[in-house]
Amino acid sequence: MKLARLLCLLLSLALLAAPRMVVAQRAQPARNAQADIERRINALVARMTLAEKLGQLQILDGEANGNFRPEHRDMVRKGLLGSTLNVRGVARTNELQHIAMDESRLKIPVLFGFDVIHGYRTIFPVPLGETSSWDAAAVERAASIAADEARAAGVHWTFAPMLDIARDARWGRIVEGAGEDPYLGSVMARARVRGFQGTDYSAPDRVVACAKHWVAYGAVEAGRDYNTTNVSERALREIYFPPFKAATDAGVGTYMSAFNDLDGVPASANPFTLTRVLRGEWKFDGFVVSDYTSVEELIKHGLAADGADAAQAALNAGVDMEMVSRNYNQHGAQLLKEGKLSPAVIDEAVRRILRIKFRLGLFEHPYADEARERSEILSPQHRAAAREIAARSLVLLKNERGALPLSASARSIAVIGPLADSQEDVLGSWNGDGHIEDAVTLLAGIKAKVSPKTKVTYAKGCDVSGDSTAGFDEAVRAARAADFIILAVGEAAAMSGEASSRAQLDLPGRQLDLIKAIHATGKPYVVVLMNGRPLTINWVAENSPALLETWFAGTEAGNAIADVLFGDVNPGGKLPITFPRAVGQEPLYYNHKNTGRPPDPNNKYSSKYLDVPFTPLYPFGYGLSYTQFQFSNLQLSAPRIPVSGHLNVSVEVANTGRRAGDEVVQLYIHDVAASVTRPVRELKGFQRITLQPGERRRVSFTLGPAELGFYNRELRFAVEPGAFQVFVGPNSVEGLEGSFEVGAR
Ligand code: BGC
Repeated sequence: MKLARLLCLLLSLALLAAPRMVVAQRAQPARNAQADIERRINALVARMTLAEKLGQLQILDGEANGNFRPEHRDMVRKGLLGSTLNVRGVARTNELQHIAMDESRLKIPVLFGFDVIHGYRTIFPVPLGETSSWDAAAVERAASIAADEARAAGVHWTFAPMLDIARDARWGRIVEGAGEDPYLGSVMARARVRGFQGTDYSAPDRVVACAKHWVAYGAVEAGRDYNTTNVSERALREIYFPPFKAATDAGVGTYMSAFNDLDGVPASANPFTLTRVLRGEWKFDGFVVSDYTSVEELIKHGLAADGADAAQAALNAGVDMEMVSRNYNQHGAQLLKEGKLSPAVIDEAVRRILRIKFRLGLFEHPYADEARERSEILSPQHRAAAREIAARSLVLLKNERGALPLSASARSIAVIGPLADSQEDVLGSWNGDGHIEDAVTLLAGIKAKVSPKTKVTYAKGCDVSGDSTAGFDEAVRAARAADFIILAVGEAAAMSGEASSRAQLDLPGRQLDLIKAIHATGKPYVVVLMNGRPLTINWVAENSPALLETWFAGTEAGNAIADVLFGDVNPGGKLPITFPRAVGQEPLYYNHKNTGRPPDPNNKYSSKYLDVPFTPLYPFGYGLSYTQFQFSNLQLSAPRIPVSGHLNVSVEVANTGRRAGDEVVQLYIHDVAASVTRPVRELKGFQRITLQPGERRRVSFTLGPAELGFYNRELRFAVEPGAFQVFVGPNSVEGLEGSFEVGAR
């Protein structure tokens, strides 16, 4: 009897231990592989000359068309160039790689980097657009397809994701990121890193990612690109760091140091951010590349007197690889001789770079495969995914009296506007290896959608910018002759992105006049917006019957927009960024502080403007659907939780309309009184759900220390006892409200 019990006990202990044994067995090879990599790195570094080491710290630019430059051959042969950017295409990358593997002394493979931001050849919506889907799985899928195509074209490394939180719509690069919110930004950062890298970026369909731009580049003063920033450590930790921390935790392999200076110390020579936080606190073990010539630019910043000074400052601060400028190479030996750089700093930078090359499997598989390049790039499956993801990213901003969706069997439709038939613009900025001729314009998408009996006419009306109204008459004639009008206006793709800040946020050129001319015909019309940033579109918001925000929706833009306009897809996207009423409100963001005098229309001496309301035109998280949703029955699992406790918050959401549709259920908190003033609302959870007509579902969230804590006066992350408000709703201003207490009474 005793023996039987003992056997039983042993058996159950073995069963209990079993899963752990499996985990341990799985973890073991990874640890062994890492130890093996470190051994191989050490053996290699021991054989390298100083010139070869400095060669690994250099990345140089190829030609815009993807070719490498003539000097790269010789540099690679001599071991003086470790990486390139923009060189792509299997024939070219293999040719240069053969020089490294067959002709160089140490046979260290070249690392090929490229800006694969929202697609390689199959282009997905610009990142701000993708983020509007509030769908991490869709964003991960887009990044994984981009990775697949890039790797198939010989590219190993993408300079993405761009993780800069941006609260000022004037900044052109707002289009490249996930918008204004650190929580949403972190969710998207994880999704993009996972999509690019997978669980193992040595796989033939993955690339290593690069978290950029480290850090606070999105805070450039007045939204002017490359401008100075002055951000407190608290704001860094609360607003600007979180997406980078999320990327690091997701295993991002590389970082890029930013152009801006940060409280007087340029981000490309900043020991606090590059070494103390990144290496010390976060234990990041990959490498940091400078942004394009940002080491050299330390001279213009006024931090370095000359190139040698710049190299010393950047390398010692923790920038391992210099992009395009060549100060490490030109001055490394001299700096060593003078004792301004230690051999250990150079060796460590080399080690970090080699570590990523080993993890990419480049020593074992240096070459790309031409057959994969043919099969993967712009495959029909990739295009289908681009269409689906683009449709999920569209945001319906207005839909008066059910103006949308449109009927595909209409007699005649006029498609009007400077963006209605532009293949170039729908691809957006940073469109990888996207080809203009691949893109489906709105006009093409509509023609493909409607019945053969429907007459589709097109009139450009005017250009995006410029003063001519010569095309107005033709546009008005086309409008008068049609049953309804689809009007595509906004910005050209080149009006956002790098070096594309704007001091005005209005529709450029004569586009608003064009809308007014169409409006004056009295015909029904919808406005389709294409743009890379929030715009001040007050007249349109007030007067036009329907408004669909499409950002720049990529290769399949026209098909995806037509899917939504004609109701094959019910729009469910939400704004990841606040739309202001006037440029003078910028920076305008939902998670602002209350101030001691919160805006009060009845009190002159409160925080507001004389000439413009203090509220946004469209708030963060906003977006409509062709159906309606109702939120009810907010429940909290307890009225009070301990500081280390967790709270369940749930709400019932019902589809009260007649179509299936998606709602993004958003949860916000507000810490009522704390040792440091807290934002009026902070997003802490969201779920995009699909409900059939009449269906209702309870949606739950958990709040715990990670959501309730913040950086206290000592800049330590802590939960403080006291009252909290919680809001669950369809955007950042509406919803149900509850409250709870944290800590002992
Ligand atoms: C941009 C980076 C980009 C790099 C390489 C720079 O001008 O700021 O975002 O990755 O160029 O193309």
